[in-house]
Amino acid sequence: MEQIKTKKVEVRNLSKIFFQKNSSFEVVKDVSFDVYDGEFLVLLGPGRCGKTVLLNMLIGTETRTSGEIHINGAESGKPSPAMSMVFQKKALLPFKTVMENVELGLKFQKIEKEQRRKICQKYIDLVGLHGFENSYPHELSGGMQQRAGIARAYAVSPDILIMDEPFGALDAQTRYQMEEELLQIWEKERKTIIFVTNNIEEAVYLADRIILLSSCPAHVKAVFPIELPKPRDLFDPEFLRIREQIETQTDLSL
Ligand SMILES: Nc1ncnc2c1ncn2[C@@H]1O[C@H](COP(=O)(O)OP(=O)(O)OP(=O)(O)O)[C@@H](O)[C@H]1O
Ligand SMILES: [Mg+2]
Repeated sequence: MEQIKTKKVEVRNLSKIFFQKNSSFEVVKDVSFDVYDGEFLVLLGPGRCGKTVLLNMLIGTETRTSGEIHINGAESGKPSPAMSMVFQKKALLPFKTVMENVELGLKFQKIEKEQRRKICQKYIDLVGLHGFENSYPHELSGGMQQRAGIARAYAVSPDILIMDEPFGALDAQTRYQMEEELLQIWEKERKTIIFVTNNIEEAVYLADRIILLSSCPAHVKAVFPIELPKPRDLFDPEFLRIREQIETQTDLSL
């Protein structure tokens, strides 16, 4: 059955050049892509190719040199409440508990305490942190800290969730577990997700569609719709074939 797809995000000819004293450094080059409602889109690119800069332009915390970004049909030039980001680096406030960290966005939105707590508890439970509401970040493992970051991003009920290599710093076992859990949450909530990674296997495991980026300056090298049913089997011959096909088209080792 042909489904009608609603565009959530349109990126057109997006470029970023950093100008320094006597030189300029192009980091993102003429990038265009669309993201559809409820889609799990993965941006796959090598280290230091410009992925975080691209995401920062999307969420409006970095200026663009040229190009357009439309979110829900409207041109977007500044930070948009439609989007919420899970950061690459540890981004929890160290002096606040898990609950207080997850609550931050809702507090900012002036949601009253009782309702705030209810919403946050739902997402704390969903990411498997029940019982750790009053723990501080230093008392948690890396995986648990990323879980809290994911709960915080979901709690503000964003239209679009942006995730910048959220599992990059985790050991392989925890990473697999987090990927599986993220898919389960995505199946439940059906939020549009833009997920950045440099890991091909992770991309093929998670994505409805992969946008493959080149090395710096990042531009779109190829687009791969991944139609395998989820959850996927990492050793399925078709999974391995797609993985290999992408591998042959990537710049450098990822
Ligand atoms: N504000 C800035 N001024 C100058 N150069 C910058 C700035 N921010 C980023 N860069 C450079 O742009 C390039 C791309 O950086 P970016 O952080 O987007 O890479 P990335 O693809 O996210 O890398 P990683 O996979 O390591 O996270 C890097 O060489 C970085 O040094
Ligand atoms: Mg980055």
